[in-house]
Amino acid sequence: MDVPLVGRSEELGRVLAALELAFAGSGGALLLAGEAGIGKSRLAAEALTLARQRGFVTLQGAAYPLQADLAYAPVLEALRPFLAGLEPGGLAALVRGLPDLGRLFAGLHLPPPELLGDADLERTRLFEAVSRLIERVAAERPLALLVDDLHWADAASLELLHYLARGLAGQSESLRGAYRLEEARTHPGLRTMVRSLQRLGLAEELPVGALSPEAVAALARALLRGEPPPALLGALHARAAGMPLFVTALIRGLRDTGELVRSGGTWVLGGEAVTALPPVVRDLVLARLERLDPVGRAVLELIAVAGDAASPAVLARVVGPEAGDLETVLRQLRESGLVAEEPAASGVVYRTAHPLVAEVAYDELPESRRRRLHAGVAAALEALRPGDLDRLAHHYQGAAWEADPPRALEVLVAAGQRAEEVHADAEAAGHFAAALALARADRPAMVAELLERLGHARSRSGQLAAAVAAWSEAARQRERSGDRPATARLRGLLALVEWDRGRSDAAEAQLAAGFQAVEGTGADLELTDLHYIRLHLLTRAGDIARIEAEAAVLLALPEPTGTQRAVAEAHLARADMAFLRGNFAAAREHGQQALAVAEQAGISTLAALAHRRISAAAANAGHHRLAREHGLADLALARQTGSPTLELSARFGMLMIDMHTDAWEDVLRNAGELLAQGYRTGSARGVADALASRALVLANRGRPEDAGRCLAEAREVYGTAAAADRRVFAVVEIAEAMAALAAAVP
Ligand SMILES: Nc1ncnc2c1ncn2[C@@H]1O[C@H](COP(=O)(O)OP(=O)(O)OP(=O)(O)O)[C@@H](O)[C@H]1O
Ligand SMILES: [Mg+2]
Repeated sequence: MDVPLVGRSEELGRVLAALELAFAGSGGALLLAGEAGIGKSRLAAEALTLARQRGFVTLQGAAYPLQADLAYAPVLEALRPFLAGLEPGGLAALVRGLPDLGRLFAGLHLPPPELLGDADLERTRLFEAVSRLIERVAAERPLALLVDDLHWADAASLELLHYLARGLAGQSESLRGAYRLEEARTHPGLRTMVRSLQRLGLAEELPVGALSPEAVAALARALLRGEPPPALLGALHARAAGMPLFVTALIRGLRDTGELVRSGGTWVLGGEAVTALPPVVRDLVLARLERLDPVGRAVLELIAVAGDAASPAVLARVVGPEAGDLETVLRQLRESGLVAEEPAASGVVYRTAHPLVAEVAYDELPESRRRRLHAGVAAALEALRPGDLDRLAHHYQGAAWEADPPRALEVLVAAGQRAEEVHADAEAAGHFAAALALARADRPAMVAELLERLGHARSRSGQLAAAVAAWSEAARQRERSGDRPATARLRGLLALVEWDRGRSDAAEAQLAAGFQAVEGTGADLELTDLHYIRLHLLTRAGDIARIEAEAAVLLALPEPTGTQRAVAEAHLARADMAFLRGNFAAAREHGQQALAVAEQAGISTLAALAHRRISAAAANAGHHRLAREHGLADLALARQTGSPTLELSARFGMLMIDMHTDAWEDVLRNAGELLAQGYRTGSARGVADALASRALVLANRGRPEDAGRCLAEAREVYGTAAAADRRVFAVVEIAEAMAALAAAVP
């Protein structure tokens, strides 16, 4: 049934304006927000059609109800068909030099990405790779990307979209998202993303509100292909409150029950049916479900449970031969307007015509039947798509005990591991938690290990209290079983996470317990780690005297004991201490030692940091050529790792050298690049550094007012983080002092 779009001329005007801007190379994000069934998806579809007509490449994906555990699913859904449609040469050119993409998409023939040993750096690099990919596509043709139903999206997708949105300025890309307002309010990830993008001026929220009475009448007219009776229009006005889903569902419902009939060439509404209307859409949907025959209802429920796996083959396997003719049932469901058929990568999938239908059907299912259906889908996927770990894991989670526990456990653990690899930590935590529940009953021997992994995933996704719970239980188990090295390792992890929660006493206590556990066991690796963690915590606390002592202990450990990473970091810590004391020669020396160890161990992130220490020490001692050499080496290594975060700080290092050598034009130029990159990667620190550098030049040139404007912006961007990050914010404060001097306010 093709119903034309009614009553959205104002909204379409804004969509068109955004497209024009993107076309002119000034992209942005437009977020359609409104209540369930108000017409967001329909408007978004119309927007994409407009974009296509204007020559845009259009990509679209949607999050599915009840599938928030599928990492990156909506973004992958949007990009995958596009990449699959490219010829090999074009594809290779598009993904060249972006090895992280190989983790997300199969068949790209990319080398494995270099491991950086730091989950945050790797995650940003992965995001940067997707961002670059989209940028390259948009360089050829303007691009519009739509992700619908963001309120169901997984955490990793939201973070990735946030990252992409930050790269839109200056690109011919237009990002569209749609979400339900009422759900966004209770969805912290989505709320954070929207607020942050709005604050940065990168996204506009387009509220999608109720249709006007005229538009509702036009919609009813289109649905009925004739004039609606006045009584119906009155009821629609009173009940549907301009919500198109309600209008559509109500009219269908009345027709199904025979209360709205065509008689003598006009539509007639019989009886007092309209006053007996259920007050909410949910009931309306339910009423429609209840009118299905048992087989139709069962298939619809299966489609709701299967989500994006509802291909004809999967459905056929789950319902089995006794259900009769599946094709006929599906056709009837389509005719009833409850189910739609959609093209997919391989053939078609069935979806409920509106997500609300899936939600209501799913909610109504008794728990036991829901689990059995998930188990059925899992079994079908095992036979048809055994490699599709994410989807298998989703259905094994839903199946709980109904599926084969050993296999479910195996899949959940593998999916958790895979999610970890693509830095979808919240999803990894979900998989490990589900695996843990199975293991507690079925494989007690795996429990401690799963708890440890769960702790990692939780801590990385910022669920610190939950990480403490998992690791504490794991530590107690290890203690009980007499595994002292493992106990020590867990206590060390607990110390770090307790520190991050701002509980330094608890952190100290955990460290002490760790040292106690490892004492006399000869577990050298764990001992080194604990010393290293202590050093790390002391560095964060800025306790200079104890840092020196701890670094000395770490370096005095016998040779085979120290992991090279820990040793290199100890040298770096010493370099920092020497630097703070103004002993630049010693700082350079320790930097060289760190560099030697890092290079030997092939840890390029640490080698870059070592170059940075040497460069800073040399610059302060007046050895500018040496400083520049190491600064450039730092920048080259940072680029090679592909980590935008590392590159940003390397660039700032170069800026400092330019300042030391009074190369003010270079400072200005590089500060401009740093500023753009800082905004792009969302680094408040990068932005503040760049603005402060620019302010210094302006103050130096006798333009204190312009300098002041830069500094005000730096403070605003940095916000409350300034107090916690003294080391970097000092640059802003120095620039403020210089600007004051230039303004003759000593
Ligand atoms: N302006 C319109 N003109 C004609 N039909 C519309 C209009 N807006 C929405 N509809 C129809 O109303 C129904 C609900 O709209 P839609 O699916 O776009 O809602 P939604 O806001 O995306 O809901 P949800 O939050 O549940 O995803 C659909 O069948 C859609 O085709
Ligand atoms: Mg929708």
